[in-house]
Amino acid sequence: MSTERPALIDRFGRHVTYVRLSVTDRCDLRCVYCMAEDMAFLPRAQVLTLEEMARLGRCFTELGVTKLRVTGGEPLVRRDVMTLFEALGALPGLKELTLTTNGTQLPRFAKPLKAAGVNRINISLDSLRPERFRAITRKGHLEQVLAGIEAARAAGFDRIKLNSVVLKHRNHDEVSDLVAFAIARGLDISFIEEMPLGVIGDHDRAEAFYSSEQIRADLSKHLELIASAEHSGGPSRYWRVAGVDTRIGFISPQSHNFCGSCNRVRVTAEGRLLLCLGQEHSMDLRRVLRANPLDDEAVKRALIQSMAIKPEGHDFDLEAKPIIFRHMNATGG
Ligand code: GTP
Ligand code: 5AD
Ligand code: SF4
Repeated sequence: MSTERPALIDRFGRHVTYVRLSVTDRCDLRCVYCMAEDMAFLPRAQVLTLEEMARLGRCFTELGVTKLRVTGGEPLVRRDVMTLFEALGALPGLKELTLTTNGTQLPRFAKPLKAAGVNRINISLDSLRPERFRAITRKGHLEQVLAGIEAARAAGFDRIKLNSVVLKHRNHDEVSDLVAFAIARGLDISFIEEMPLGVIGDHDRAEAFYSSEQIRADLSKHLELIASAEHSGGPSRYWRVAGVDTRIGFISPQSHNFCGSCNRVRVTAEGRLLLCLGQEHSMDLRRVLRANPLDDEAVKRALIQSMAIKPEGHDFDLEAKPIIFRHMNATGG
């Protein structure tokens, strides 16, 4: 089989070039939009080993995938996770190795991640006020994440992006402060509408909804936003502010459906290949990996076959009962 041609093409002609690998469902925080307060995590034997994940990364890149994002849970709480970054960073054919993290472990990991070949990194930050930050994450310390952001800046990644999930009455009044924080440090920032993934028990998601449009209107009172056609290979739509390097992105799964240009699939920590974030279509890759320990071609055949069940799109509805019972930490964002 050719290892050069893009081989992952679905029924709608979309090329899959971007894979998000969740390396753990565990996390040191409990963000209210992501998890319930007391979560049961996966038993270790059900989670793919780091070697299995590296093997998947190899198979995907041999099928034309050029971008890998490591997610979680919080990827940096997985023991020995650096060995995975080192293996992925060495894959020929990979153009971008990226990470989504909550930032708490970055003071320790930023430098080795850069050395392993991580190009870009996305760090969650929903509030700049310690007591609010704690309320949203249920157990986080803001100063730890701020130190993580500084460590990442010092390590010299190509770009750093902040991710802020905006909830009405929790942090919607901080969007201008977050943008000012990003601009002062030369960081990008994306504002994310909450998605109805899993039962969280904390708040009514329809009530807490704060749209990208509202955020843009709030920001426009202080800043002149200029629409931009730039893309980072993800679902963000970007805006710029004249004279500064910061891009302001909006991820709006509720109000803007970007499924038509979807280029990605996800692998959960247990090795379930999810063909769409908002649907349950999936394939059990753990079984394929473990049944064919020495045969990468069998794994690649399964990946190609999975393209037949990639759905056309999703249709999130905050008012309806959740139809997706996976929490975000089980999904990898
Ligand atoms: P880049 O564009 O590469 O910077 O990454 P990203 O913004 O896709 O990645 P990140 O891990 O920072 O995710 C930010 C948010 O986008 C998370 O809340 C994801 O769940 C959401 N997101 C990413 N991909 C999709 C998708 O295919 N569909 C939907 N609805 N949301 C997505
Ligand atoms: N809706 C939207 N974004 C979420 N995240 C976690 N759970 C949700 C949700 N239910 C975000 C995190 C992180 C990214 C990977 O996903 O804040 O930035
Ligand atoms: Fe952890 Fe990220 Fe979920 Fe927050 S959003 S609980 S940091 S996995």
